[in-house]
Amino acid sequence: MLDLLVKNACLPDGRTGMSLAVRGGVIVEVAPGLDAPAHEVTDAQGLLLSPPFVDAHFHMDATLSHGLPRVNQSGTLLEGIALWGELKPLLTQEALIERALTYCDWAVAKGLLAIRSHVDICDPRLLAVEALLDVKRRVAPYLDLQLVAFPQDGALRDPQAMDKLKRALAMGVEVVGGIPHFERTSEQGALSVKLLCELAAEQGRLVDMHCDESDDPLSRHIETLAFETRRLGLEGRVTGSHCTSMHSMDNYYVSKLLPLMFEAGVSVIANPLVNITLQGRHDSYPKRRGMTRVPELLAAGVNVAFGHDCVMDPWYSLGSGDMLEVAHMGLHVAQMTSQQGMRACFDAVTLNAAKVMHLKGYGLEVGCDASFVLLQARDAVEAIRLRANRLKVWRKGVLVAETPEVLTQLRVEGRPGEVGFSQR
Ligand code: FE2
Repeated sequence: MLDLLVKNACLPDGRTGMSLAVRGGVIVEVAPGLDAPAHEVTDAQGLLLSPPFVDAHFHMDATLSHGLPRVNQSGTLLEGIALWGELKPLLTQEALIERALTYCDWAVAKGLLAIRSHVDICDPRLLAVEALLDVKRRVAPYLDLQLVAFPQDGALRDPQAMDKLKRALAMGVEVVGGIPHFERTSEQGALSVKLLCELAAEQGRLVDMHCDESDDPLSRHIETLAFETRRLGLEGRVTGSHCTSMHSMDNYYVSKLLPLMFEAGVSVIANPLVNITLQGRHDSYPKRRGMTRVPELLAAGVNVAFGHDCVMDPWYSLGSGDMLEVAHMGLHVAQMTSQQGMRACFDAVTLNAAKVMHLKGYGLEVGCDASFVLLQARDAVEAIRLRANRLKVWRKGVLVAETPEVLTQLRVEGRPGEVGFSQR
């Protein structure tokens, strides 16, 4: 007897009429037309069953704080950082935990079951670190939360940051972060990359740095990050987040940079909603889009994920934890409008992001965790087009969220009574 059988599903790779059988929280069979007794049976009716959405770049310590203590007037990254500095002394652990838990509720409802969140370690109280470690424990039954020790004020620019970062790692934060473009000079930025990668190598940690989140084409810390990755044997364990300066770099330089990044197995995370909002702010016209070179990175063999980065915080006042909204913006900004390009954008918020986080048991293969989302869409492209409704979300075989099918009843004479926004 199976615990769960999902029948007649379409999968993101295009297979249709597929059944997934689940026992003990694990997928035990994936086959077309499979039928067997199960405690719970769901007929997917040809709709898309996807592995859960994964957000590989988020800031959960700041989320849902929009308007506290005031709104970002200029809309720039730097005013956002200054505003976060004003908010930090006012933070309480209870409020931070409550906001993070609320965001995790939104995430689960949207089928987003794994989040890598940066946590600012520059506060000497490490209040956000303690709070998010608590949140991580509390949400563990339904969501994977991975934490990055993020020195928001600069690993070297803040003279105590390295000590606080090490303390955060000792407390249970997993990944080494950084922000080289925010250090005082390019040399200091490069030195911070070197020191942080050495720390990660010493302690067997993954690395994920905010890297070159700037429109300055000469912000080239991604080069140092890739070089240090190879020097220290960290291939496949390092991620450059944002990398927006690549948008503005000289093409010849990029042609030399891409193979280095590929050889180092460095992943890149673009954050389309926030990059298009924050970058290009010093431009008149033309205004740069400010997202990294996603199609070119993918063509060079680099793993690229899309992150949400911010939801209702000092940098971005919108968002709801919907990774399909992120993919939707990503494909527009990168002009990845071919069918293949749009499917690649779906992968950027599922498979590629799971690879960044080194998630175990992720996917729709036999032996993987029975964590998946049934979408009100026929395929990945339609899911992005409609930012499709999440009908059912399972985590390790357990139903954790359910939303009724959305169908508009049309009251127009002579036309069909229902509108579902599907071509078929
Ligand atoms: Fe970020």
